[in-house]
Amino acid sequence: MKVADIRRTFLKFYESKGHTIVASSPVVPGNDPTLLFTNAGMNQFKDVYLGFDHRPYKRATTSQKCIRAGGKHNDLDNVGYTARHHTFFEMLGNFSFGDYFKKDAIHFAWELLTEHFHLPPEKLWVTVYAEDQEAYDIWHKEVGIPADRIVRIGDNKGARYMSDNFWMMGDTGPCGPCSEIFYDHGPSVQGGPPGSPEEDGDRYMEIWNLVFMQFYRDEKGEMHKLPRPSIDTGMGLERIATVLQGVHSNYDIDLFKNLLAAAKAAVESVSTVPADINSPSLKVIADHIRACAFCVADGVLPGNEGRAYVLRRICRRALRHGYKLGARGPFFYKLVDAVRKEMGEAYPELMNHEIEKVIEAEERRFLQTLSKGMDILDAAIAENKTGVLPGDVVFKLHDTYG
Ligand code: ALA
Repeated sequence: MKVADIRRTFLKFYESKGHTIVASSPVVPGNDPTLLFTNAGMNQFKDVYLGFDHRPYKRATTSQKCIRAGGKHNDLDNVGYTARHHTFFEMLGNFSFGDYFKKDAIHFAWELLTEHFHLPPEKLWVTVYAEDQEAYDIWHKEVGIPADRIVRIGDNKGARYMSDNFWMMGDTGPCGPCSEIFYDHGPSVQGGPPGSPEEDGDRYMEIWNLVFMQFYRDEKGEMHKLPRPSIDTGMGLERIATVLQGVHSNYDIDLFKNLLAAAKAAVESVSTVPADINSPSLKVIADHIRACAFCVADGVLPGNEGRAYVLRRICRRALRHGYKLGARGPFFYKLVDAVRKEMGEAYPELMNHEIEKVIEAEERRFLQTLSKGMDILDAAIAENKTGVLPGDVVFKLHDTYG
């Protein structure tokens, strides 16, 4: 299944279960000063959970554009170096606003994964919040997952529990205990089951998070019960595509293979050396062009504050990696068209050709700064005999030369 088929299958499945298909909201959250970028499918429904907003439906499903490069959920530094982190990604989700709760949420997820996506049940592991016996029993007694593939995870209570199964949108907002579904990529990939010391490896990949929304966390950190228990789920489209396409890295799915090939060609168009298709730098570039293109498409321009600055940092990180690969001229903006080809059908906002212009202008500006900075760095290294650069040089490189 191609990425586009997976997206369609997910939405259609939930439509058949009485959910309304709702369009993704922009990557810039409307009216929510607590968020820099949209970081989850539930953001556009925050006020519905809180009981302030009412919709004509009680069940919804979306494929949501998300950016996790600032704020509570920030994956920026991992991108390029793991098989599964992105600045921009799509989150598939189903939502219940005071309608169904744990039981249906779990059964729907299981049905989709095993009967429509045909995943072998023995490859799936789940975690539940340590005290959530109800979710444990549904997985164990009703779905039939054996006890040795259900892991109870608490709130960071000691070394064994490194991750927690309590999801919060940010410091404030709707939240609740959650249950995560993992896919075991098999012993050829390094890593251990969730909750084990090796859990950060790529073998057991979290594909889906089912959140049992029950509370609102206020500015003081106090929890208040939501008017009605609700459901919020999120499955990374790129991760499920990895599983369904039988590969072990998100960068090996159809969409990213095409973006990587385009990134290689764009870098090489302004370089004298070939770019290694497997280098982390190329992955960084292929990842970051999506975040940059969607930010600009949704109205963010590079700048020095807030989300404008995050966009500038993402863009500059890609350009530095391009420089590492040998690029000495603008290349990044050329990739917008590749993103458009992969995703333009699902996201028509990408058809705006101003996107290239904004990125190219930012790129030209930074290239001048970067090449001056590189000269200063090279000179400082050549002059230096101690192996340690002086702090003032490092500060100047960071602060003035990006
Ligand atoms: N909102 C939940 C998450 O982002 C589903 O993981």
